Amino acid sequence: MELKNDLIIRAAKGEQTERTPVWLMRQAGRILPEYRAVRASLSGFIELVKTPDRAAEVTIQPVDILGVDAAIIFSDILVIPEAMGLPYEMVEKKGPLFPETVDSASDLKKLKVADASSDLGYVLDAIKVTKRELDGRVPLIGFAGAPWTIFCYMIEGHGSKTFSKARKMLYNEPVLADQLLQMITDSTIAYLKAQVAAGADIIQIFDSWAGILPANLYERFSLKYISQICDVIEEVPVTVFAKGAYFARRAMGQLNCQTIGLDWNMGIRESRGLIGPEKVLQGNLDPCALYGSEREIQIATQTMLDSFGPYKHIANLGHGVYPDVDPEKVKVFVKTVKEYSAAQR
Ligand code: CP3
Repeated sequence: MELKNDLIIRAAKGEQTERTPVWLMRQAGRILPEYRAVRASLSGFIELVKTPDRAAEVTIQPVDILGVDAAIIFSDILVIPEAMGLPYEMVEKKGPLFPETVDSASDLKKLKVADASSDLGYVLDAIKVTKRELDGRVPLIGFAGAPWTIFCYMIEGHGSKTFSKARKMLYNEPVLADQLLQMITDSTIAYLKAQVAAGADIIQIFDSWAGILPANLYERFSLKYISQICDVIEEVPVTVFAKGAYFARRAMGQLNCQTIGLDWNMGIRESRGLIGPEKVLQGNLDPCALYGSEREIQIATQTMLDSFGPYKHIANLGHGVYPDVDPEKVKVFVKTVKEYSAAQR
């Protein structure tokens, strides 16, 4: 299928585009009343994720409503632990919960490397339906969590400010940690390859909990596995977004991927210097900037675009959009990127 708008793909390949492409992490979801309506008609988040037609519908909503240059498949990073044998629940207003966690070698024995088509067929079906319904309007982003971030949830069982239980395992049981991280990595590789085969045009890896590791452990227990994934996803461009990994930017410049996502704390020019001239950078407006006035959002967005420069940039926030942001403010951000970046060419 020929893409009518392939800006983000061309930008990810380092080509000079007529304007800067824009999308938002967590664009499909609670900021949109249209999403909340679909969600309310089902028993909950997990049913939505597992119903391909409805997942496709909420994937496409932000393309229609916000005017973004890419869709991201509606799913969650936590489908991987479930496919490996560790199911999750999504608790209203609290977030994910794993009734069982991994504590020991015997817990690990109960898990398996996920088989993409039999264990995650619902995501692959959602990708196929979405591609058909998008009809080439914009590219579709597939995604997975980085092995380290998935490991955090599988050990800890729920969100945490420190994930100290997961970190403790790196010190006390590094062999067990490596075994689990390798199983997650193998599951993720099969899953991402299947997403690409189903139609994903570009892949993003989310390392949401990168920032809680010291630099040496980050290289040893996270980048090592991200790098295995990058080395084998060759068919489409890959983006690595490691939140808080300011200490690993130089090393990320060496990954076999096209784009590096920056969070809002990472200086743009400093990051370019550390990462080097080759990679495309994605980001990185503070999600809270969208609580400002229309004029303030325009100024903040223009300042960001000036710092990145016209090419090798995909505009985004520095993390996911917060649920209570007014969609009208998101539209101001998207429109400003489109108009201002086109005028700078
Ligand atoms: O628009 C999109 O980005 C596509 C869908 C998407 C979701 N989760 C849907 C979702 C994506 C890409 C994710 C990734 C994800 N999930 C990450 C990495 C990105 C990040 O924010 O750092 C993480 C850490 C998770 C795990 C997760 N899922 C948490 C911690 C929570 C609860 C807190 C929260 O942010 O809502 C979820 C739930 C979740 N995932 C929701 C959505 C739309 C809200 C559930 C609901 O509708 O009730």
